[in-house]
Amino acid sequence: MTSSGLSVSIDTSVAHPARRYDYWLDGKDDFAADRESADAIEKIYPHIRTSARQNRMFLQRAVRYLVEQAGIRQFLDVGTGLPAAGNTHQVAQSIAPQCRIVYVDNDPLVMVHARALLTSSAQGRTAYIEADLREPQTILADETLTGALDLAQPIAVLLVAVLHFLPDDSAAGAAVKSLVDAMAPGSYLVVSHATDDLMDHGSIEALTAAGHVGKTDTTLRGKARGRGVLRRTGDGRAGIADRQRMAA
Ligand SMILES: C[S@@+](CC[C@H](N)C(=O)[O-])C[C@H]1O[C@@H](n2cnc3c(N)ncnc32)[C@H](O)[C@@H]1O
Repeated sequence: MTSSGLSVSIDTSVAHPARRYDYWLDGKDDFAADRESADAIEKIYPHIRTSARQNRMFLQRAVRYLVEQAGIRQFLDVGTGLPAAGNTHQVAQSIAPQCRIVYVDNDPLVMVHARALLTSSAQGRTAYIEADLREPQTILADETLTGALDLAQPIAVLLVAVLHFLPDDSAAGAAVKSLVDAMAPGSYLVVSHATDDLMDHGSIEALTAAGHVGKTDTTLRGKARGRGVLRRTGDGRAGIADRQRMAA
């Protein structure tokens, strides 16, 4: 039974990114394996909780900008995460209640919580698809998506802290490209990604070693490698910045 009283069949013996992230954000929907994995990463990278919180703030700033400044009213949020404070639809609909949001995640627990807790404003809409980013065409063809979003109008695609769970650069680039290609002119792509650019050599080696014994499944990409993944979208304007150097 989860903290929201919902029953769902999940394997709690294996750490999962959503529940580990929940732990770093002081949430309540994580299990022993998630905490063990999260603690192992925190030991090597002590700033991880700050990073998780900063990432969350980046997501909220980006959504706010898109609604207020760019006039976006539709969002495709892939890699939703367990509901936490300030989810995409809450930020968007607090500014424009008619905003429509489709959430996509491959973790069944996330989807159960999302359906229960991520409820829309009366004027807008929220919808949920349990699917994998590695199969973008499945996401795009899902009737839940086509029923909630108008693909002929601009959409903001959010890939916030999710691309680093796709270790293969070609597959990651292809997934981004498929989503971007399906969007109308005037659409936006928002990406945040774990990087090793600002880590010392010892930490990178320790995290890589942890990966080899199954403690982490995150593929760190520096700016150059990340740019390579995004370049496949054919958009030379993609800007990449270090979170530490961005305004809070
Ligand atoms: C670190 S959380 C990020 C949550 C939220 N986007 C944020 O930034 O606050 C990553 C989420 O991506 C999901 N995820 C990981 N790999 C995925 C994949 N291949 N397809 C869809 N979702 C995935 C995990 O289940 C988790 O909920």
